[in-house]
Amino acid sequence: MSDDSRPSLTGTLPETPDSARAGTPIAAVIPAAGRGVRLGPGAPKALRALNGTPMLIHAVRAMAASRAVSLVIVVAPPDGAAEVKSLLDAHALPERTDFLVVPGGETRQESVKLGLDALPPEYEIVLVHDAARPLVPVETVDAVIEAVREGAPAVVPALPLADTVKEVEPAAEADHPEPVVATPDRARLRAVQTPQGFDRGTLIRAHETVTDNVTDDASMVEQLGLRVVVVPGHAEAFKVTRPLDLVLAEAVLARRRLTDGF
Ligand code: CTP
Ligand code: MG
Repeated sequence: MSDDSRPSLTGTLPETPDSARAGTPIAAVIPAAGRGVRLGPGAPKALRALNGTPMLIHAVRAMAASRAVSLVIVVAPPDGAAEVKSLLDAHALPERTDFLVVPGGETRQESVKLGLDALPPEYEIVLVHDAARPLVPVETVDAVIEAVREGAPAVVPALPLADTVKEVEPAAEADHPEPVVATPDRARLRAVQTPQGFDRGTLIRAHETVTDNVTDDASMVEQLGLRVVVVPGHAEAFKVTRPLDLVLAEAVLARRRLTDGF
């Protein structure tokens, strides 16, 4: 068809890149390959049960709860990919959600990279979500997705801090008090959670470029000099790290079960 024969576009608005992204499918990479040393001896953290269901399954369902998410890539403990695959086969996900399982690496960063290596090309937006944050509400997931769709290359959910934070110098000798170096203004600090959301190309470039060891994905995008923005996080998106966190997580699930019953 030649240009002349096209219907006139006069009076219609050009499609912006944002609206072009409104319906793009979204994938979530879930690093779940950690051991959970701080939780104490036992199975890898992501496979421990919360109210009878593995933490990983709660985390996968939390991502699949967003209607926009159509693929979940689980990064399993290196020797546990087959076990994770059968767990996912045994626990129902919404019809619209596919999953893939890949073995993870030595560090969280390596595990995320291995997950990204499995990301099919049609996914322009990707979330990265810790398996250790099994209870994040869907409203938080959707708020992150919306901010990426509106054009931010990297989005993190975060909360203000309750505690004042001190920067310290390592103590000269073990068991000696640590000298305080500084007290950052608490009002400007945020505790960062997941899922973090990214423009796919940006996150892949960050993983190819940044080699320092980091504890979150957005900080790699910051190192590229790109803008990272914060949306409100949620108290229930806390990370299960220490034994007491298991008690809190089961209490949240018990309360949800009660309120869902009414
Ligand atoms: N993770 C991963 N691969 C690693 C290390 C961590 O996929 N080599 C994942 C964990 O499974 C977890 C998330 O990264 O879902 C956040 O890490 P963290 O809470 O530190 O979990 P662990 O490393 O398992 O815990 P710990 O540091 O206490 O051993
Ligand atoms: Mg860790």
